[in-house]
Amino acid sequence: MLDPVVCGASLLCNCDCVEGARRLLADGSVDLIVTDPPYGIGGDRLDRHYNRDESHVVEGYVEVPADAYGAFSRAWVSEAARVLRPGGALFVISGYTHLYEILGALREASLVEVNHIVWKYPFGVYTQRKFVSSHYHVLYWTKAGGNRTFNLESRYGLGERNGDGGSLNYLDREDVWTIGREYKPGRAKNRNELPHALLAKIVQYASNEGDLVCDLFLGGGSTARAAIGLNRRFVGFELSPAIFAARLPELSRLEPGELLPTLRVPVIAPVLNQGRHWTAEGEVALHDAYSRLRAQGLGKGEAVERLAAEFGRGRFGILKRLARRE
Ligand SMILES: C[S@@+](CC[C@H](N)C(=O)[O-])C[C@H]1O[C@@H](n2cnc3c(N)ncnc32)[C@H](O)[C@@H]1O
Repeated sequence: MLDPVVCGASLLCNCDCVEGARRLLADGSVDLIVTDPPYGIGGDRLDRHYNRDESHVVEGYVEVPADAYGAFSRAWVSEAARVLRPGGALFVISGYTHLYEILGALREASLVEVNHIVWKYPFGVYTQRKFVSSHYHVLYWTKAGGNRTFNLESRYGLGERNGDGGSLNYLDREDVWTIGREYKPGRAKNRNELPHALLAKIVQYASNEGDLVCDLFLGGGSTARAAIGLNRRFVGFELSPAIFAARLPELSRLEPGELLPTLRVPVIAPVLNQGRHWTAEGEVALHDAYSRLRAQGLGKGEAVERLAAEFGRGRFGILKRLARRE
C-alpha cells in the first residue's frame, strides 16, 4: 500500500479502502462516513447504459463484479462500523440493483437505521418500455451507544417560512430530496460524480467543524471537497491509480473552510417562553391553534413546528401539552 498523501489535517489514500482503513484508522475514530460504493452494474461502462458523452470522464474506475457484491459490501461495511465512533453516522448512496446486499451488510454489522432517503434527480435514464429511473437511495445509519450529531437548524431556522407559509426547515428535512446532477461540460469528472448540494446537506446536518469525515470510495473527490470546504478533517480512499492521480492536484489545493462563506445563514429565533409555566389560557390557545393548523391540512410534525415558533416554546413542551388532550 502506498503512503497516504497528507493535505493539512486530511489524508488521501490511493489504496483499497478496507486495507487502508485497517492500517490508518483506529476503532471509533471517525465521526461521519459519506460514501458511494461502485454499483456492481458495469459502472466502468456506464456510457452504454446511459448513452451519454463520456469524453471527459477520467478512466480507471474500478467496478465490482455483480456476483461478488455481497461479500464486497460485508467487508467494507464491517470496517466502516469498526472505525465509526458510537453515535457516528454513515450515509451510503446506492442504486437499487444491489441495495438489498448493502442493507443486509448494515444489519449484520449491528448498525442502526435512522432514515431511508430517496434522492430524486431530474432527467433520469431514458426508457420507452418501463418507467424512467430517476432516483438513488441514501441510507442514513448510525452506530449505537453515543450521541448522534443532527444539527437541526444548520440550514433553516425552525421559524422560517416560504411564500405559502410552509416551514423551510420541515421541507428541507423531508426524506425525499430533489437535487439536480451537475453538468461540467469540458471538465474532468468521475463516473457518477455526486452533486455538491447533496454532500453539503449531509455534512451540515450530520457533523460539526473539526469532525473527522471519511469517504471509503473517493472517486472524483466530491465528498472531500464538501468536507474540507466546510472545515471538517477528511480521510478518503480510492483504489484506482489513474483516478487518484488525476484528481489529487485539485484536491490537495483545497483550503479548509473555503466554502463556509457560501452557506446560507439560517435565521434562528430565540425560544422566548421556554422554561416558563403554562397558564390554562395558554394551553387552550395552543390546542385551538393546533386544531386550526390540522384543519388546514398540516401534518402533526409541521403543525408542532409552527406552534413552537408561534408560542416561543420548544417542540417537546408543545408535544407534552398536546398529548394531555389526545
Ligand atoms: C461510485 S464511484 C465514487 C464517486 C464519488 N462519490 C464522486 O462523487 O466522484 C466509486 C469509486 O470507488 C472506487 N473503488 C472501487 N473499489 C474500491 C475499493 N475497494 N477501495 C477504494 N476505492 C474503490 C472506484 O474506482 C470509483 O472511483
